[in-house]
Amino acid sequence: MIPLRIDGRSVDARPGEPLLRAARRAGIAVPALCDHELLRPYGACRLCVVEVVAAAAPGRSPRTRVVTACDFPAREGLEVRTATATVLALRRQIVRLHLARAPEAPALRTLAEELGAEPLEPPEPPDGCILCGLCVRVCAEAVGAHALGFAARGKDREVGTPFGRPSAACVGCGACDWICPTGILRHQATASAEFRRLPGEDRLCRYARLGVVPGALCALSYDCRRCDVEAAMRARFGPEHPAIGSFRQRLAAAGGGTP
Ligand code: FES
Repeated sequence: MIPLRIDGRSVDARPGEPLLRAARRAGIAVPALCDHELLRPYGACRLCVVEVVAAAAPGRSPRTRVVTACDFPAREGLEVRTATATVLALRRQIVRLHLARAPEAPALRTLAEELGAEPLEPPEPPDGCILCGLCVRVCAEAVGAHALGFAARGKDREVGTPFGRPSAACVGCGACDWICPTGILRHQATASAEFRRLPGEDRLCRYARLGVVPGALCALSYDCRRCDVEAAMRARFGPEHPAIGSFRQRLAAAGGGTP
């Protein structure tokens, strides 16, 4: 472990560990909407901005920079400030921009209230997506399906399946909807609707597609709330989605740490 200081407190971190993880372990709250401990950092939502002051070389003054804590590696001697006036002003502006895209998102509304950020007028009807990429990463890294991706650029950038068509790679597990920080629920319903079109002998349980239960056909037309398998998944993985829970178990079995 290496020592650094966050908000004046001594904190130990693993070399290279993202500052966000070290801060959270020390009980220092930093907002973060695109981070999940098991997925690779992506640095998209920018809410985790902090100031870092690198130790000065002899004869030089220390250098202060604004960085995203979720993907900035811990280094010995680093001084981190999570709530300076600069940081808070930046976060306020970032929250306003996100709110324009997802005005109903409870996590954003709470942050806006805490920071005193007024929402911006949305330029067009907001679709609720802040392009954090969590759904894309959980599908690729935890599920291994790679059914979702980013399309287009600039203001047209969006998340979806290739060519906007139902993806054959999608297992319908719903991890994408579960992990969405703004609470958009749209991909699993689309997948279930597609599965319902399949002949009965092809209607494999979504958790069987995910690989966490033995192959079994769905007898409830993908109305998972009524299903015993759903209840068994909750009993086995608790509040965590089975895709994440099983990914956590696989990482632990492989002796791997988090990304
Ligand atoms: S949590 Fe760091 S940029 Fe989103």
